[in-house]
Amino acid sequence: MGLYSHYILPRALDIACSNGAVTEIRQAIVPEAEGTVVEVGIGSGLNLPHYDPTKVTKVIGIDPDDQLWRRAERRRGDRGFAIERLGSSAETIALDSDVADTVVVTFSLCSIAMPVEALAEMRRVLKPGGRLLFAEHGLAPDERVVRWQRRLDPVWGRIAGGCHLSRPIPRLLQDAGWRPDRVDQSYLKGPKPMSYVYRGSAVAA
Ligand SMILES: C[S@@+](CC[C@H](N)C(=O)[O-])C[C@H]1O[C@@H](n2cnc3c(N)ncnc32)[C@H](O)[C@@H]1O
Repeated sequence: MGLYSHYILPRALDIACSNGAVTEIRQAIVPEAEGTVVEVGIGSGLNLPHYDPTKVTKVIGIDPDDQLWRRAERRRGDRGFAIERLGSSAETIALDSDVADTVVVTFSLCSIAMPVEALAEMRRVLKPGGRLLFAEHGLAPDERVVRWQRRLDPVWGRIAGGCHLSRPIPRLLQDAGWRPDRVDQSYLKGPKPMSYVYRGSAVAA
């Protein structure tokens, strides 16, 4: 692992994912989680402070990145619920089926190599009647912005840990057998190719 991905990228991701608008989205989405939560791409644990300890009993974080998990461990503190990590990939979650009351995925579908496979795994581990809570940046609605997203994608992926700018989040959800029951979408502050965000919840179709 190079200097960049070992030291610089984890810190850069942590900072980029902590800005005010992103934190507001976490505050709106994450407290809806309940019971046993599987958080896919838990990264540096930026969602941990937003879980409601009166509703959540355990968070199982799925993420292959040891450097980011080290940061999550510093952030875990005593939150009033159990926190575990599985260092596997989202495409093959090493958990039985029907174990989670809630699955949470925030700002990770952009980086997961096979997002539809990962979303299908999220559906498999979710109990019948459970919910997926998501907040993801992706394909913008404006053709001019989309052109920039596609132009930037190859180089952006190399500097931003495999992040894709133009993933069509609602279509990925649908292709993996999810039915969104609420989706809000808008640009956040910042460069438009990086800041079109979809957030909401979905149930198994
Ligand atoms: C931009 S970070 C977001 C982290 C966190 N979800 C957040 O909201 O701050 C993207 C995360 O996706 C994780 N990731 C990338 N590929 C993955 C995969 N195949 N399975 C699980 N996590 C993955 C990365 O390690 C990283 O933690």
